[in-house]
Amino acid sequence: MKNRNPKKSKEKKPVPRDASFEEDLHRLLEMILESGARMMCAKASSLLLVNPKTQNLNFKVATGAKKDEIKQFSLRVGEGIAGHVAREGEPLLIRDVSRDKRWYRQISEQIGFKTYSIACVPLKVGDKVIGVVEFINKEGGESFQESDLDLISVFSELAAVAIENAQKFKLAELENRGLKQELNVSHEIIGESPAISRVVSDALRVADSMATTLILGESGTGKELLARLIHQASPRRDRHLVTLNCAAFPETLLETELFGNEKGAFTGATGAKIGKFELADQGTIFLDEIAEMSHSMQAKLLRVLQDGIFYRLGSNTPISVDIRIIAATNRDIFAEVKNGGFREDLYYRLNVVEIYMPSLRERKSDLSSLAKHFAEIFRKEKGYDSMEITDEAMDKMMRYDWPGNVRELQNALERAVVMGQGKQIKPEDLPMLQSESSIDSMPVGMTLQKAVNEFKKKFIEANLKNTGGNQSRAAEIMDIQRTYLSRLISRYGIKK
Ligand SMILES: Nc1ncnc2c1ncn2[C@@H]1O[C@H](COP(=O)(O)OP(=O)(O)OP(=O)(O)O)[C@@H](O)[C@H]1O
Ligand SMILES: [Mg+2]
Repeated sequence: MKNRNPKKSKEKKPVPRDASFEEDLHRLLEMILESGARMMCAKASSLLLVNPKTQNLNFKVATGAKKDEIKQFSLRVGEGIAGHVAREGEPLLIRDVSRDKRWYRQISEQIGFKTYSIACVPLKVGDKVIGVVEFINKEGGESFQESDLDLISVFSELAAVAIENAQKFKLAELENRGLKQELNVSHEIIGESPAISRVVSDALRVADSMATTLILGESGTGKELLARLIHQASPRRDRHLVTLNCAAFPETLLETELFGNEKGAFTGATGAKIGKFELADQGTIFLDEIAEMSHSMQAKLLRVLQDGIFYRLGSNTPISVDIRIIAATNRDIFAEVKNGGFREDLYYRLNVVEIYMPSLRERKSDLSSLAKHFAEIFRKEKGYDSMEITDEAMDKMMRYDWPGNVRELQNALERAVVMGQGKQIKPEDLPMLQSESSIDSMPVGMTLQKAVNEFKKKFIEANLKNTGGNQSRAAEIMDIQRTYLSRLISRYGIKK
């Protein structure tokens, strides 16, 4: 074995690429088998793995004169000596295969290898048979003995450990890749306005600490997105971020969601259930819509925060976990505290740090980059080559006040991209209400002068439209001089 144990050789390479990784495992199995064959004085040996989907046994590694030819064959589980061992999970020693009904002679005949005796053992990970190792024909024409089986078992265990480690390693690598993708792609907070920049820098500052954080802000402003950012910028990033929407469950269910329960804890508790607090151990729990929690749940949560322990429903064993809590609400939680709807002591425990997500109205300067970001996402999703937002459509979005915030904008663009059919998004493709004249949707964030000019432009356009482009008539209705109207038309760039 040349002092090469499977664990050591794997540790040598930190993050191999897929191909070299498979090669490494293959080479390792080959070495295990080669030394096994040498020590057993076997003329040939093979390692076969079960494909769990097809239940076929495939030759993975082989030694001996026909080691390349053999690889084109496969057996069914239950077929031949190897298939029998794979099915039964017990070692098998056949001193003379020609006298054993289980032997599948076709393979030996086709590759022209005369088989006399076989020693075969299962390859197990835990209780599960993942394949078999077999040694064929002892040198000098002897047959294998019972005592040889012990030795083969050592080799099959070594091979199983190598395979198991490789599988775990591969899984870890895949998970790692998934996390990285999540980090890079989906949790990008778009926007450069001073308001959002401050939020992001506050979030990054608190990320490192354990501080319980309360995120406030209207619906659709990106509170959950921010919670993810905090988690992923924190030292807990490699652990779970577990989300629980407190508004989504009635009180009794919320309790088992959070704390879990033992089997039989209540009618219908057919099995034990692990709560989100336990799942989030070492990680972060995001309690969304926290203000919707009932009074008694608030009391229970407070106790957990104070004592640092909780109990699964129906159990007396205290569970202690290490979690970071981030909570969010779109309600005016301070007003709730004032009017007794939310416990003051819990409020102060939760808002060690408080971050306010600005509404889209408060950061209109981000609207254009957000709109382009979503247009691009949906363009790709729908498979269009290009998608441009016209100035008029952008104007319309700027004038709208977005009560549903970024989520509403996102939905509006999804629809607009479909309506725009892969070319342009025009104002009429945007589903928002035409509420420009309503006082509720008055534009904010611009000077009075600019707002007045905007209004004048719209007003003149509407009057011209009304008179079919007749300027004299429009001037008369608006009670202004015809020459003054013409000057306004060119000043505001109104199309005639
Ligand atoms: N700054 C941003 N950049 C990119 N996408 C954003 C941004 N803010 C919000 N979004 C997107 O808008 C949608 C709503 O965000 P999110 O779910 O985080 O809002 P919320 O404040 O939790 O809303 P609610 O209170 O309704 O639960 C999500 O799809 C999110 O990805
Ligand atoms: Mg949310």
